[in-house]
Amino acid sequence: MSSAPRPVIIKGTGSYTPQKVLTNNDLSDIVDTSDEWIFTRTGIRERRIAGDDETASTMGAEAGKRAIENAGLNADDIDVIVVGTMTPDMPFPSTACLVQTKLGISNAISFDVEAACSGFLYIMEVASGLLQTGRYRNALVIGTEKLSSILDWQDRTTCVLFGDGAGAAVLSLGEEGCKSGILDFKLGSDGSKADVLLQPGGGCAIPASLASIENRQHFLKMRGREVFKLAVKVMGQAAVEILEQNGVEPDQLNCVIPHQANMRIIESLSSRLHIPIERFFLNLDKYGNTSAASIPIALDEAVRAGRLKSGDTILLVAFGAGLTWGSTLLRW
Ligand code: UT7
Repeated sequence: MSSAPRPVIIKGTGSYTPQKVLTNNDLSDIVDTSDEWIFTRTGIRERRIAGDDETASTMGAEAGKRAIENAGLNADDIDVIVVGTMTPDMPFPSTACLVQTKLGISNAISFDVEAACSGFLYIMEVASGLLQTGRYRNALVIGTEKLSSILDWQDRTTCVLFGDGAGAAVLSLGEEGCKSGILDFKLGSDGSKADVLLQPGGGCAIPASLASIENRQHFLKMRGREVFKLAVKVMGQAAVEILEQNGVEPDQLNCVIPHQANMRIIESLSSRLHIPIERFFLNLDKYGNTSAASIPIALDEAVRAGRLKSGDTILLVAFGAGLTWGSTLLRW
């Protein structure tokens, strides 16, 4: 008789955010905006900005190091590194390979996955699949972003929303019969909406040229209102579908960790699920939207704040450029 597959568990978490704080008031010196506008429309008060010497790989390596320590493991124990980022250090080699050498990990496969703000849930599913082949022991998954490097600091509709940082987790196979671990994933994408949120320049379609720079094509572009409506719809669906699929009532959730993009989007999810906002873990006010880093930073802060107790049922839910979206159900 074949036994049930061993569940994938989160063995450790870690995060890193840069020291430099940029407040809404600081931003009002750069563009025509105000703390009042930003806070009431988004829930953001401040964000972190990486130093010139900090990149997706340096921040990701620091978050990864903390996750490995938290898991009680050593660099040698890691045999898979998957990085989710839309601001890699460079087009190639992958940021994961750069993280690998920074952490002195000699025996691992390392690669990046690009799924924008849904990146962390995508890399969790990819890494879980690899672990379940039985060929790997421990996977380090890292969401890391230096969004300040692609923001147009003359565009008040986007530059006030984003920040820099990294979050990581070590995933491993739990013991047979183990009750905690990842219960399910529900990921999705819709490339027909690629044009609502993108960085048009810098790839092979529009390589860097004097014209691409003059046309500001290397910056993030977003049609905010459209993204807002899509986000409300797809995050709600991703959450409802995974709960239904697993026979979990919203009220049974002990904690929801959403992608931290906009408080009004999170409030709409809270009312759709009929779960009080107090059950959501939020740090949007401190960091803004850090894309693929947002869920793992929040997860690490929730762990370290003692918000997640053994046996808790936890929902992670994200959306982002692509469009991409996803939800993950966990038993802590
Ligand atoms: O991970 C996915 C990332 N993206 C998102 O999550 C973004 C989703 N979208 C949003 O969060 C919201 O659409 C925004 C926060 C971006 C904008 O909020 P909104 O309530 O949709 O505002 P709006 O775009 O409808 O703009 C309202 C007004 C406009 O002025 P007029 O045309 O009414 O005179 C904007 O020009 O607010 C103006 N505005 C600003 N004013 C002060 C836009 N940005 C700013 C600003 N400061 N930073």
